[in-house]
Amino acid sequence: MTARLTGDETALWDAAARVLDANWTGTATVPSPGLYPHQWSWDSAFVTMGLARHRRDRAERELISLFRGQWADGLVPHIVFNTTLARHGYFPGPDLWRTDRHPAAPHAVHTSGLTQPPLQALAALRLHECASPSEAERSRNFLARLYPKLVAQHRYLAQCRDMDSSGLVAICHPWESGLDNSPAWDRPLGALELPPAVYAPQHRSNSLPTGEDYDRYVWLVTLLREADYRADYMRDAHPFAVEDPLVNATYLASTHALAELAEILGRDPVPHRERAQLIHKALLDRLWDYETGCFRARDLRDDRLLPVLSVAGFAPFLDPELPAPILHSLADLLLSARFAGAAGYPVPSCDIQATAFDRAGYWRGPTWINTNWLLWHGARGHGLSVVADLLYGSTLRLVRQSGFREYFDPFDGTGRGSHDYSWTAALVLDLLGARRAPRAA
Ligand code: GLC
Repeated sequence: MTARLTGDETALWDAAARVLDANWTGTATVPSPGLYPHQWSWDSAFVTMGLARHRRDRAERELISLFRGQWADGLVPHIVFNTTLARHGYFPGPDLWRTDRHPAAPHAVHTSGLTQPPLQALAALRLHECASPSEAERSRNFLARLYPKLVAQHRYLAQCRDMDSSGLVAICHPWESGLDNSPAWDRPLGALELPPAVYAPQHRSNSLPTGEDYDRYVWLVTLLREADYRADYMRDAHPFAVEDPLVNATYLASTHALAELAEILGRDPVPHRERAQLIHKALLDRLWDYETGCFRARDLRDDRLLPVLSVAGFAPFLDPELPAPILHSLADLLLSARFAGAAGYPVPSCDIQATAFDRAGYWRGPTWINTNWLLWHGARGHGLSVVADLLYGSTLRLVRQSGFREYFDPFDGTGRGSHDYSWTAALVLDLLGARRAPRAA
């Protein structure tokens, strides 16, 4: 590491690097040592952003390990299981998904059958941008190896998940949003009619969300599994189908990144640019809610916007072409008493004034470092320095005060959930690195 960090920042850098070193399995990084012992898809993208500034050899291996789980149809699963661990050691493990029976699933590893926000192309681009001149050729070679896999991932999303042919992708399960128990999902989950049985095991290491939510989550997986994870079933019959602003904003950012990667590699960027235009337009047409001044998820089963405002509604900051009035309206809401304006440690994952808000409830109120990072990255791209500086400062303050925790109380910054959480550490490295090396920021 080169100089220019203060003593305090250097200590923070070293502590973050130690967390990532400890969570490295030899092929990938687990999100946290006890609670999440496998590889998760969007966690790996965030981890790559940090490893890019710490151990780029590992960043490459992290992505290769994730794409070992890619299906023949292009799906990048949200969990790639570590086959050396006991099958029953983690729920929901391979026995729930039974993807080994699926012809498109890989043979060498067990995976889930869902996706997560598709951030891998953005992570690959940042990895390349962080390469020093002496690493540039190796970096290009790595990109050339990864590029077809990223293209296949995006092809799967466009062909199988653009369910209403609008350009946006839909999720079929709350876990695909990354914000598992967000109050945004309460309405569609509440509308499910479950057959009378208990689906989830009674003893799970992770006590949040509640057992009743878990029954619904597991039932949705059961339906998808029994339909062989088929795209026509998801589109026509599955009871949960939602266009989410964070999933689509990350899809858009990664589509732009894919166009840049194509240019770097001398491939054709035009199809990616055209797709980006489609996503941009559909985000505005379908998810922007003029009345609340925020983006909201659309439930495809009744074609209505979901009522609760969550941190996901600000993710379209990642759209480089967001029109100025929408950008400023979003920034106003973010700084208002419903989000950052009434939280000492923003950004709460749910509107503070919503009845469902719960300051300790996982994605129902606490502040998370990855969503802060996404908003910081987007706001910075737009030159929204008030928002970007606020997020930069409050994110580092949280970690200095409470450590590399999974999530945090938005009012007093108390750390919650697991300790030594990988994406918290990785994104701290990226934040510190961005200050140190503006070229790669
Ligand atoms: C939780 C989070 C999800 C994350 C996973 C592994 O399920 O809600 O976003 O990917 O943990 O860290």
